Amino acid sequence: MINKLIKVAVPISGEEEAEAVKEVILSGNFVSGRKVKEFEERFADYIGVENAAAVNSGTAALHVALAVMGIGPGDEVIVPSLTFFSTISSVLHQNAIPVFADIDKDSFCVSPSDIKARITNRTKAIIPVHLYGNSADMDEIMKIANERNLFVIEDCAQAHGTEYKGRKVGGIGHIGVFSFFATKHMTTGEGGMITSNNEEWVRRSRIIRNHGLINRDDHVYLGYNYRMNEMAAAMGLVQLNKLDYFNEQRIKNSLFLLKELGRKNSKWFRIPKLSKDIKHTFFWCPLVVNTENGFSARDVVEKLRERGVEVRQRYQEPLYKQKVVQELSPYPSGCPFTCQPESNIPDYKSLNLPNVEALAGNIIGLPNHPELKQEDLEYIMEVVLGLY
Ligand SMILES: Cc1ncc(COP(=O)(O)O)c(C=O)c1O
Repeated sequence: MINKLIKVAVPISGEEEAEAVKEVILSGNFVSGRKVKEFEERFADYIGVENAAAVNSGTAALHVALAVMGIGPGDEVIVPSLTFFSTISSVLHQNAIPVFADIDKDSFCVSPSDIKARITNRTKAIIPVHLYGNSADMDEIMKIANERNLFVIEDCAQAHGTEYKGRKVGGIGHIGVFSFFATKHMTTGEGGMITSNNEEWVRRSRIIRNHGLINRDDHVYLGYNYRMNEMAAAMGLVQLNKLDYFNEQRIKNSLFLLKELGRKNSKWFRIPKLSKDIKHTFFWCPLVVNTENGFSARDVVEKLRERGVEVRQRYQEPLYKQKVVQELSPYPSGCPFTCQPESNIPDYKSLNLPNVEALAGNIIGLPNHPELKQEDLEYIMEVVLGLY
């Protein structure tokens, strides 16, 4: 029986964050104040864009981004099939139609050629997700978008600081969205950010996040309460100072594991190819379980855990297999599916995209968080190599 467990993620905040939050609590100024403004400015600078608007989750950021661009009923939005549910729930909340594209087998991000194949005259936007800290192929995606006049919303919820050809993601498409959920590269507990060089969209985002209000009583848009509070922003400012250090550690740990594991030839896993054009920040340190050699991801996960190595294993299924999509059943009204001609609704039931079907459930993420020590990394290596 092994009595240690190397956790796949640990909280990465401490005294400095506690001090910053305490200062806000004692000030009595909890909402829409100085800290949120400063966090927006500093985050925009970090990403290399002119403007940013803070909100209270990554999901809210996606929803607001679609709203400010005017994506609405019947519009089609092309999304990857392997991502977190928010990437499509935000589309459905705007009564728009998610159109699923396949993924690349090495980057796990959306495939540009498959995006191209799915464009119709109702397509309005593309949401590439920079999955697991990697980057989607932004040159190709922007080329397709520019040719067809489509908007690009980069979902950077797993890619704070990731770079594509020297530019930070979140500053390449028309809008970037980030999440500061507890397990992300940096956290505010819960939180999100919208980044853009388009001043008008960011101005509208600030109105929509605050009930659509411009003055005390003038509701000019259908808004929400998506505001970030001052405590979260104060924590975000401290975490932003540490982000580059956290990322360096994640990268160092992941490259050590992937390079060492790559040198040995094991039958149970494959190491995804990394692109020279991308600074991957390794939200996950990914391995693909070789199911074609008879190995099962579930068995791998269980065996690793028994030996003291906790791993991630998501997403289990292509997103188009979720019940809400297969049964066209968003609660409570059935819109967008019941609010337009049936011929506009994609045939989700017969969708079968080869790369995502082969990969979903078979990608695992090894521990790579900034607190790991060299002896932990060596232990992980030993366990992974000795598994079968
Ligand atoms: C790819 C992706 N998009 C969006 C989100 C939503 O972010 P949040 O949890 O802050 O709402 C997440 C969160 O896990 C995510 O991983």
